[in-house]
Amino acid sequence: MEKIPLCVIGCGGMGHRHILAYRELENSGIGNIEIVAVCDLNPKNADLGAREVERLFGKKPLIFTDLDKALACADIAAVDVVTDPSFHHSVAVPALQAGKHAIVEKPLGLTVRACQAMIEAARKNNVVLATAENLRRDPPNRLARSILDHGLLDTPYLMIHNALGGDDQIIITPWRHLKLKGAIGLDMAVHYTDIIQYYMGEFDQIYGRGLIVEPVRRKPVNHGLDLESYRERYKTFPETLEATGEDSVIALYKMKSGAMVQMSYVAGGRGSSTFERSVHGRKAAMWAPGDRNGRPVILKIDGKELKGAEILPLLPNFQMSEITQRLFAERQVEYQLPFPPVDAKHMAIEFHDFGEAILKGGKPEVDGYLGMTAVAAILGAYESIIAGREVGMDELLSGKVRAYQEEIDDALGL
Ligand SMILES: NC(=O)c1ccc[n+]([C@@H]2O[C@H](COP(=O)([O-])OP(=O)(O)OC[C@H]3O[C@@H](n4cnc5c(N)ncnc54)[C@H](O)[C@@H]3O)[C@@H](O)[C@H]2O)c1
Repeated sequence: MEKIPLCVIGCGGMGHRHILAYRELENSGIGNIEIVAVCDLNPKNADLGAREVERLFGKKPLIFTDLDKALACADIAAVDVVTDPSFHHSVAVPALQAGKHAIVEKPLGLTVRACQAMIEAARKNNVVLATAENLRRDPPNRLARSILDHGLLDTPYLMIHNALGGDDQIIITPWRHLKLKGAIGLDMAVHYTDIIQYYMGEFDQIYGRGLIVEPVRRKPVNHGLDLESYRERYKTFPETLEATGEDSVIALYKMKSGAMVQMSYVAGGRGSSTFERSVHGRKAAMWAPGDRNGRPVILKIDGKELKGAEILPLLPNFQMSEITQRLFAERQVEYQLPFPPVDAKHMAIEFHDFGEAILKGGKPEVDGYLGMTAVAAILGAYESIIAGREVGMDELLSGKVRAYQEEIDDALGL
């Protein structure tokens, strides 16, 4: 089978998870992408990424620490952009202009302008742009979407999406607390706005706000690492960090269908610990379990409560893609698996979809536009508190409303 030669750009924490997922894709027996190169500005990370590729595939990839040199390499047809988000557009735009197809980690860009620069470069150069959005690929999310498609709820009028709880420790990396770098309010909650648009269709109006619940973040405490590994892991972290970007977002959405969505993501607030993803209609209601935990979707219908696989007889048209069936199992909508293989399977599904769009000339499931609207749905909440009113997705995409984003666009030269 023809395989697309690809360069992984950004070999930090997520870059390594991507490399594992390409191995999972290969293990599926219908792999359509081959890692031929890695690139990272940091030579140590580039080298570690290359070693991981060699360990998993038995073949050393090309190593680049200079983006221009990687993009000049004719042996590379596609790039996988896994840098921290403030660099996504400055890596992806030249890559797309060089005729490379690109899959870009979420959030696609830090602002609507950053997203639009990538979408425009892909369009002009007739190459594929995909957003690496993994959570919707989870079989329970596929099941939930099928319940909606089969009309079991009748017309849904309300979705509730709440994820609350955390502490004041730095979340994964310091950049996740900085407005100009891609703070966690966007970085994490953009997964949830993608789930909302996956379940409920297009966003229309947005009202809400962003918050910094924990203004000072601390170096993570040691949870079980030996002292040397702990020091090594966190050696570049400050003892404390003043947050400049939101760690939380609270929003109310009106969708184009007329349905309303209540969404809150709060990565702080000790004492809060809540997760709910539910959709309510006249005939029934459903609760999805969240992502990567394999727990059952619950459907309350006709006075009964059905769980996971018990719902399948009501869904004659439910089918998962071939790659999903190979990596999980046919109609497997619940599972008990540790996080790393589940994580790798979801990403293998998104990479396969990207590869198929290139090979067959189609559109990836999460293209640039959907990557952008998921971002705009978060930024819309931040913009609405400044505007003092609800804002329309059309106003965000046209650039009419962008007061919050101006500072970021200026810093990014957009
Ligand atoms: N989908 C998910 O579940 C998930 C989970 C974690 C992270 N992510 C996303 O993955 C991306 C990376 O996150 P991370 O945690 O790996 O960040 P990180 O800071 O650990 O790694 C980023 C890497 O990119 C490199 N880099 C930065 N600018 C570069 C450039 N211009 N050219 C080449 N290399 C460059 C850095 O040197 C670093 O090695 C982010 O967009 C993040 O939101 C997604």
